[in-house]
Amino acid sequence: MSAFHVTRILPEDAVAAALRADVLHGLTSRPKQLPPKWFYDAHGSELFERITELPEYYPTRAEREILADHADEIAAALPARTLIELGSGSSEKTRHLLDALSGLRTYVPVDVSGAALEQAGRALAAERPGLRVHALIADFTAGLTLPDTAGPRLLAFLGGTIGNLLPAERAAFLAGVRSLLSPGDALLLGTDLVKDEEVLVRAYDDAAGVTAAFNRNVLSVLNRELGADFEPEAFDHVALWDSGNEWIEMRLRSRTAQTVKVPALALAVDFAAGEELRTEVSAKFRRERVHEELAAAGLESARWWTDGEGRFALSLSVVR
Ligand code: AVJ
Repeated sequence: MSAFHVTRILPEDAVAAALRADVLHGLTSRPKQLPPKWFYDAHGSELFERITELPEYYPTRAEREILADHADEIAAALPARTLIELGSGSSEKTRHLLDALSGLRTYVPVDVSGAALEQAGRALAAERPGLRVHALIADFTAGLTLPDTAGPRLLAFLGGTIGNLLPAERAAFLAGVRSLLSPGDALLLGTDLVKDEEVLVRAYDDAAGVTAAFNRNVLSVLNRELGADFEPEAFDHVALWDSGNEWIEMRLRSRTAQTVKVPALALAVDFAAGEELRTEVSAKFRRERVHEELAAAGLESARWWTDGEGRFALSLSVVR
C-alpha cells in the first residue's frame, strides 16, 4: 500500500500562459527583465544542482549545516504533525527535519515541477512507513490551498528562495503564508544574510562558469517554449551587488545591437549593444529586517539559527 498521492492545483496550461505573460511584460519593459522562476526547466534544475556544489556557492551548505545541527531544536520548538514544504525540489535537506519530527504524520511537498515531486515523494513514502506524503503541484506565489491535515503545522520555505521575490511580492507572499496557517502553526524560513560584497558576487559569478550557463539557460527556455531565436552566447553573464537594496542582481548583457524574434508573442525585441536584461534578484537579509517583514505579516519571530560562519539563517516564526 502506498501512502503517496499527488494533487495538481496548477492547471497544465496555466504555466504556459504565465510564461507568455511574463515574457511579454518583461521584454517590453524598460529596463528589460524576466522573473527567475523560468530558469528551472530540466537542464536549468540540473545546472542549479551543480551550482549548489560549487566552492563559491555557500548558501546550500550553510543551510544544510543549520538543519543538521539544529533539527532537534526546531522539532522541539514546533512538534509538527504536518510538515509543508514550499519549493521542495528533491526534498534533500528536508530529511533532517523528517528524522527529527517524531510525531509527524503528513508531509506536504509543494512544487511547480510534477516530475521532481513524484520522484522525491514516492521514495520518501516508501522509506518511511507511517508517513503520508501528499504532494501538491502548485505555484506557491499564487493562490495555494492546503489539504486538511492535523496540526500543529510547520511550513518550511528553505533555500533563501524568498530572496528571489521583490519586496512587494515578498510582503504579499508572507501574508498569504500567514493566511494558510492557524494559531500554534509556524513558518521555518531560510534567508541568506548580508555579508562581504566579494563573497556574495563570487557566489553568483563562479570561476567554472556554471552560474553563467544557468543564467543563459533562460534564453534557451524561451527559444524552446516560445520559438524565440535568442543566441545565448550573444549575451554576457553579469552578477552585481546592489548595496542600496541589499540584493544580488543577475543580468544578461547583449554583446551587440541585435533584434530577437519571439514568434509565439508576435514580438521583435531590440537590444542595444551593452543593454542588460535583469534575470534575477537575490535579496540578502539582516536579522532585524527578517523580524520586521514577518511581523508585518502577523508572524511572531520565535527562534533564529545561523551556520557557524553566520552566512545564512533559519528563523522560526509562529502564529499567535
Ligand atoms: C533559488 C534562491 C536558491 O538566489 O541563490 C543560484 C538561485 N541563482 N545562483 C539564489 C541561484 C544563481 C538561488 N535560490
